[in-house]
Amino acid sequence: MMMKKFLFLKIIGVFIFLTLLIGGSSFWYINKTFLSFEDGYDEPNNIDQLTIEGQLFLDRNNNGKLDPYEDNRQPLRTRVNDVLSQMTLEEKIHLLKGAGMASSVGMTKPGGIPGAVGAIVPTPRLGIPTIYLSDGPAGLRIKPTRKGEDKTFYCTAFPIATLLASSWNEVMIFEVGNAMGKEAKEYGIDVILGPAANIHRHPLCGRNFEYFSEDPLLSGYMGAAIVNGIQSNGIGTSVKHFVANNQETNRLLNDVIISDRAMHEIYLKGFEHIVKRSQPWTIMSSYNKVNGIYTSESEWLLTDVLRNDWGFKGLVMTDWFGGKNPAAQISAGNDLLEPGTNRQWKALIKAVENGELSVDEIDKATTRILTLIFKTKKMQDYKYDNTPDLIKNAEITRNSAAEGMVLLKNENVLPLTTIDNIALLGVTSYEFIAGGSGSGDVNEAYTVSLQEGLINAGYKINKLGKETFNLHKLEHIESFKKPEGLEAIFNPFIPPEIKYTTEQLNKIVATSDLGILTIGRNSGEGGDRKEKDDFLLTKNEQDMVREITEAFHRENKKVLMVLNIGGVIETASWKNQPDAILLAWQGGQEGGNSVADILIGKVNPSGKLPMTLPVNLSDHISNDNFPKNPKMITIEGLVKNLIFPPNERPEAKKIRDEDYTHYDEGIYVGYRHFDKKKLEVSYPFGYGLSYTNFEYGVMEVELKNDTINISLAIKNIGAFPGKEVVQIYSEKLNSKIDRPSQELKGFTKTRLLQSEGSEVVLIQIPIEELSFWNKKTSRWSLEKGIYNIKAGASSRDIRGIAQVKL
Ligand code: BGC
Repeated sequence: MMMKKFLFLKIIGVFIFLTLLIGGSSFWYINKTFLSFEDGYDEPNNIDQLTIEGQLFLDRNNNGKLDPYEDNRQPLRTRVNDVLSQMTLEEKIHLLKGAGMASSVGMTKPGGIPGAVGAIVPTPRLGIPTIYLSDGPAGLRIKPTRKGEDKTFYCTAFPIATLLASSWNEVMIFEVGNAMGKEAKEYGIDVILGPAANIHRHPLCGRNFEYFSEDPLLSGYMGAAIVNGIQSNGIGTSVKHFVANNQETNRLLNDVIISDRAMHEIYLKGFEHIVKRSQPWTIMSSYNKVNGIYTSESEWLLTDVLRNDWGFKGLVMTDWFGGKNPAAQISAGNDLLEPGTNRQWKALIKAVENGELSVDEIDKATTRILTLIFKTKKMQDYKYDNTPDLIKNAEITRNSAAEGMVLLKNENVLPLTTIDNIALLGVTSYEFIAGGSGSGDVNEAYTVSLQEGLINAGYKINKLGKETFNLHKLEHIESFKKPEGLEAIFNPFIPPEIKYTTEQLNKIVATSDLGILTIGRNSGEGGDRKEKDDFLLTKNEQDMVREITEAFHRENKKVLMVLNIGGVIETASWKNQPDAILLAWQGGQEGGNSVADILIGKVNPSGKLPMTLPVNLSDHISNDNFPKNPKMITIEGLVKNLIFPPNERPEAKKIRDEDYTHYDEGIYVGYRHFDKKKLEVSYPFGYGLSYTNFEYGVMEVELKNDTINISLAIKNIGAFPGKEVVQIYSEKLNSKIDRPSQELKGFTKTRLLQSEGSEVVLIQIPIEELSFWNKKTSRWSLEKGIYNIKAGASSRDIRGIAQVKL
């Protein structure tokens, strides 16, 4: 008996020992490969000062004299060339990859920023500091709390990019960028990993909320405005994901098979506008391949197109762990590998040793990285104090969110007048969604729900409606726990919906003046959405819409629907039921206040759709080539992929829409397709209602110096002050080539026009914007002949047409 017990204990002991050994060595391996492998490269401190001609300088290499690179009176190029000439080859190679993931999981070195997802490593011998990078794009994503500190480090959750694009207001978006830049500056972050400018190719890409639009011009102009706003603070941006990263399914290996024309006219065009209008400090290459080559290894994309054709001056970094071959990445023009691994470091050293990478190539990439470092606040020794103006930024968020919400329908409901008691229905009314999940998520201090927003605006919230929600929450308490930390990354919070009984509804209707039903959706990085129960309303949601509207209408009361969503959902089958529909998107941390501002008429809605809301998902041609059974990545899957990088399936076993995706629709994305095929849509691109009406004056169009100058007067002919988005579309008459029937070529937004107030808006379109990508010559070509220049309140509400002859 004794022996048996001893043997048993021995086995347990061995088991525990082995588990600890395997666990310990796995952690050691992960730590030394992916998290923290930078021994000997600590943040430089104890840098001496020099006083020269009464001015203080840092003697970064402590050699007792002022080197050109230490002298901030010298031109940037001189400083960079000087430091480059002082660096050893080892130091240069070291700079080409980040410091690993340690700080992103809170394991920081002294002076580090917990939660910062990446870094440019320091060069201690020359006193060059660490530069911190943080997501993006809806605000910063650093850790809100730190061990041993009472102070919190919450960041502002700004509205999602799709909402910002719906504002069509570049001036306002610049201000949002400016606020983000200021916040980054005060938290010690030098580069924001955003904006994200991929095209909404298909409504169900899980990250569409991070992207602006189905149209490249709108995406590009919005992206440039935000880059300019952020960078006006001396903070850099990383415009991502370059390029054609339009699905999350198998994103690390997916190969986009696409024509040159679609690539240039649709997928590259938005990035081109951003580069030319704002010179972002950095671009982030995407995970996917394009026509067989990883974008991060594509010299064509990163050198020929980005730098030679567009004049991009900054550096290119990989998406996190993206691509396969570090040497090929550097050669192609992808200067920085993020977040950096020990494997990549070793591979680069080896590639230099065996001649695969030349010193010249290393110098090019190093120069670009150094140029960025020298532009940063960190290099200027800026003393950030971790106290950004979160109150002011909350106000900017609130206003910008209200500016981008789109009023889809309004049958004498809004703005609210004689309403006192509002019944809030649907869980999302109480659990408002600020933004999507994944790296685009923000650690904000709070999110204002619709309930709170309406209470702040002075309304009473119907008690029975609220009680029903409370009870439901109690019954599903586990599902209402919001995932946090790592768990939140690939786990969008989607609590179960309420099922109202007829009796409950009748009582709620009897005790309230108006019903608001909120439909919520949440998605994010690492997974695409699906048609059933996501694009389409669930069975329960469909029942809710019908039963709630019927119950309120029976008592002559109205129902408003609020869509708190990050991507397109189906609207055609149910939109005739409620009296009003507000597409609130995911409006950041002040979302509930922003909606309330619109409902009470403090803000007159002026947002317009940056994409089409189709009748059926299958109306998009891209639906023929888009993953139908999306799976979400898990943290375990991610770690497994890191340790054992997935290999491509053999050619014969490749799965369509996973291993490769054919962009057979070519340039016919979004409204370009719906208009060409004259398809009915639920709400067209550029659509959005206001509480007032605008009259469009006669459009004047003049062609001068290769620019089309358009002017027209917009008059507010209603009672309510409001702003109007004016859209300019071009249409080539009698075209000899296959081209869209119309394309957005310019837009503007009026200032707030009082009743009877008017403004003459001016829009300029360089004629080269009317070019098409000529596949025969592999260049842009301008077709001669007559073009219709159309001014519209939406893509399907054209208010004036003029012609130009080119
Ligand atoms: C995302 C990027 C993000 C990076 C760092 C990646 O998984 O695709 O958009 O910037 O992680 O968080």
